[in-house]
Amino acid sequence: MDYKIAVIKGDGIGPEITDQAIKTLDSVAKKFGHTFEYEYLLAGGAALDVHGIPLPKETVDACKASDAVLLGAVGDPKWDNEPGSNRPEIAILGLREQLGLFCNLRPALIFEDLADACPLRPEIVGGALDILIVRELTGGIYFGPRATEKIESASAAGAVLREFPGYKAGSAPDGRVAFDVEIYHENEIRRIAKVAFDMASKRGGHLTSVDKSNVLDSSRLWRAVMEETCAGYPGVTLDHMYVDNTTQQLIKNPKFFDVIVTTNMFGDIISDEASQITGSIGMLPSASLGEGSFGLYEPIHGSAPKYTGLDRANPIATILSAGMLLRYTLDRAEEADAVDDAVRAFLAQGYRTPDIMTDGMKPVGTRETGDIIAGLI
Ligand code: IPM
Ligand code: MG
Repeated sequence: MDYKIAVIKGDGIGPEITDQAIKTLDSVAKKFGHTFEYEYLLAGGAALDVHGIPLPKETVDACKASDAVLLGAVGDPKWDNEPGSNRPEIAILGLREQLGLFCNLRPALIFEDLADACPLRPEIVGGALDILIVRELTGGIYFGPRATEKIESASAAGAVLREFPGYKAGSAPDGRVAFDVEIYHENEIRRIAKVAFDMASKRGGHLTSVDKSNVLDSSRLWRAVMEETCAGYPGVTLDHMYVDNTTQQLIKNPKFFDVIVTTNMFGDIISDEASQITGSIGMLPSASLGEGSFGLYEPIHGSAPKYTGLDRANPIATILSAGMLLRYTLDRAEEADAVDDAVRAFLAQGYRTPDIMTDGMKPVGTRETGDIIAGLI
């Protein structure tokens, strides 16, 4: 069987880490007797350099024509002063939206051999942690109405703001105003709820829905739909937690969590926090899925421009993302397990990139990490 994978290496460390994931996939293909055909595409700063826009249509079309997308990272300080609509990050948001990838799975687990890299005391994590964060990915404040305008003008911003009953038009001071709106439709909540409940029923049967329903109406709707969906899953225990409390509990009692389901913005924040418990953000992969088997796979971290070309970035998050591609899009669990096992063996043999280095371990760079893990397949 041949598979077509769209590859977006992106910016910063993106190309280096993606190359290691491709090495790993090639090694899997060889071992399990099939082939991957890669189509290399531009997005983010790399696309801005060539096309003047962060997400060219041909990139989106080519992704749609592939079985899956493997993405490194986008973002480059060179484009920091661009207007919001022309920042490299728009490429990621545009891909998620245009490819219908509403569900983002972010597993945060501590590898046994990396227990020392976890900053929490051993009695808190007990050397083991396995949390799955299910982040809603195409709704909420990331995709709501937004604007930056002068409020006193009859501007688009003012017009949109006045639609909202809570906005006190007369009390706004002169000057600039900017806003982003958190909007969730019940259908958007229900479809992510279903994925989260399905995942929880296949794991420990414990789902924590994270919201801010003591303040936000959108969170109250979120909570209500979670409760309604729960009725169809008698095997799953659902609890609700405010997002501020969640950030505490992740540090105080991380073992409480099995599956977490939350909004786009809260999921962005707590997945970064969870990554630090596992030792490094360089270890966390993600899968972005829609209704079918198609998916986009990327590390949860960014393009780390300051490490570009230094051969020191940890490619494991991207390699594990390739593993998720095998598991979720291609339904090749045995091959996905082979990737996870190779990463485990790499760590067990004492190899460490700088971000997870501890005393007495063997230092390796980005390329060597890829070579060793591909070899271990
Ligand atoms: C992530 C990243 C992105 C996000 C950025 C780069 C747009 O932080 O995937 O977590 O906020 O979703
Ligand atoms: Mg993030």
